[in-house]
Amino acid sequence: MAMIAPSILSADFSRLCEEVKAAEEAGADVIHVDVMDGMFVPNITIGPLIVKAVHRCSSLPLDVHLMIEKPERYVPEFVQAGAHWLTVHAEACTHLHRTLEHIREEGARCGVALNPATPLTAIDYVLDDLDLVLVMSVNPGFGGQEFIPESLRKLRTLRDTLKARSLSPVVAVDGGIKPENIGAVAEAGAELFVMGSAFYGAKDYGAVVRKSRENLGDA
Ligand code: DX5
Ligand code: ZN
Repeated sequence: MAMIAPSILSADFSRLCEEVKAAEEAGADVIHVDVMDGMFVPNITIGPLIVKAVHRCSSLPLDVHLMIEKPERYVPEFVQAGAHWLTVHAEACTHLHRTLEHIREEGARCGVALNPATPLTAIDYVLDDLDLVLVMSVNPGFGGQEFIPESLRKLRTLRDTLKARSLSPVVAVDGGIKPENIGAVAEAGAELFVMGSAFYGAKDYGAVVRKSRENLGDA
């Protein structure tokens, strides 16, 4: 079943709790939280304190996307703050396998994100241990960027690899997703769709979810 995950990066932070509740009421399945440190990516956003506050605003699972250097330093804080999935970037971890184990030990589901230029081989030897793979379809750091079409090929290859190895982590895609391209992205193998500007930039959040589900064919 496809999951729509609005990214609060594009929400109105002066009314964050209302915006999270509005996403839930609009029919979203997951809340995506973008954590940026000004090092791994140029932008700085939020930390565990805000994740904890978001967790109190909604019962939807939180998909916490860490775009930070050495994310292993903050695993317990983000899990305790309420992360259901905690996703780290393969490019930011020297000891990726150990970090994934740590996330699981702390009690969350573990995910790995890959930048557009990072090949799938970066996660070949941890694929069996993953609950989620996040294919970045923009270079991380900012909302509102254009979807990179080559991401479709990465999603298809990932789907074939998972099938061949009988694995079923959640396949998530993040960057430039909108109702107009969600069908093609789903066909390539994604099942969790992060949506920032296309969701929070719209007047009617419910209409975005309805249109997305229509184009996904499971409305
Ligand atoms: C980008 C973030 C995304 C961002 C997506 O670095 O990881 O989650 O919010 O925003 P849109 O959907 O506008 O590309
Ligand atoms: Zn993200």
